Amino acid sequence: MFEALRALPADPILKLMVQCRNDPNPLKVDLGVGVYKNEQGHTPIMAAVREAEQKMLSSQTSKVYIGPAGSELFNHHIAGLLLGYDHPTIKDNRLVSAQTPGGCGALRVAAELINRSAPSATMWVSDPTWANHVPTFSAAGLTTATYPYYDNAAKEIRFDSMLATLEEAKEGDIVLLHGCCHNPCGADLNQQQWQTIADLLLRKNLIPFIDIAYQGLGDGLDEDAYGLRLLANQLPEMIIASSCSKNFGLYRERTGAVMVISASADASKVTASNLMNVIRSNYSMPPAHGASIVETILDDSSLTQMWKQELNDVCVRINDMRARLSQQIAATGCQTDFSFIPKQKGMFSFLGVTPEQVHQLRDDYSIYMVDSSRISIAGLNPHNIDYVAEAISSVVKA
Ligand code: LMR
Repeated sequence: MFEALRALPADPILKLMVQCRNDPNPLKVDLGVGVYKNEQGHTPIMAAVREAEQKMLSSQTSKVYIGPAGSELFNHHIAGLLLGYDHPTIKDNRLVSAQTPGGCGALRVAAELINRSAPSATMWVSDPTWANHVPTFSAAGLTTATYPYYDNAAKEIRFDSMLATLEEAKEGDIVLLHGCCHNPCGADLNQQQWQTIADLLLRKNLIPFIDIAYQGLGDGLDEDAYGLRLLANQLPEMIIASSCSKNFGLYRERTGAVMVISASADASKVTASNLMNVIRSNYSMPPAHGASIVETILDDSSLTQMWKQELNDVCVRINDMRARLSQQIAATGCQTDFSFIPKQKGMFSFLGVTPEQVHQLRDDYSIYMVDSSRISIAGLNPHNIDYVAEAISSVVKA
């Protein structure tokens, strides 16, 4: 029966990870997948995570199932981190949360919930967006469409075009917004733009879906949740997919959360029963380990302090690399302007070079980035930044 299948191309980000891993060049630089690396080019386990794991291992007494919603304590703390612990939607019983296998699991179950409730709704995603958004939503049966978001030439958000396109959306459509640290372009909405979007969504009865996978890697934990909180305060319904992969460094532990805000407590009960049913028929229940680490940290004030300090160090290092990349390229005498890089946020920016130049960087210098020229800034460090700046400069000059 499998003769009916046709071979599919590999995911562009995952393919690059393997290509770079197999490259024997000692000078190779991995600017591909969005994974934090320290100054030595290593993805470390955070000290707060290690301590929490030790604490958990000595106190854990059972491996019994945790249920489709996952850990209540984890869900309580993630809602607190995202919305604030005393958010009215929590007090009014309008919020339902479930621990999921990573942010991707959250996106998938939310998409299936949408498909059950509003199969004819269109899911609007930014152009560009994360390479796995459309495949994940399509696999859940949703129709997707794009709104303009990033102007590659001007290096800024195409806000007027974004608004004009969203005016075309029909009542009940879903609008996916990146909560912070836009993946792939690094350009985030400012506070005034968030308000304009909130007004448009409310007026047109569109439902916001916030994907927030980088909270704490932009301007800070609370600052990065600004847009999400503004929408949660002003709109009756909302969906959130969040991830602990980057801000807790728990990539392989697959730790995330889906949250749905309904218009009333009664509606929320119905939403919850459907959400649990979607989860049960997908993977039954999430794995426990990653979420136990997160709740152990967030339930202990000294571990929380330690984690916040480490997360802040990550953020400072990324911003330092942003500034230095732009400076070092300019110092080579390159005429192309890269001063937009320090103005953008989070793990990614587009370099803005052509696919041919991306291939040249890969073939001639073993510098790996996605064909779109998205770079993961965390792959830069004091040991490779001059090499990367020189290579970029010579490729764009050629
Ligand atoms: C990325 O965009 O590189 C990360 O979110 C990792 C992934 O799964 O694609």
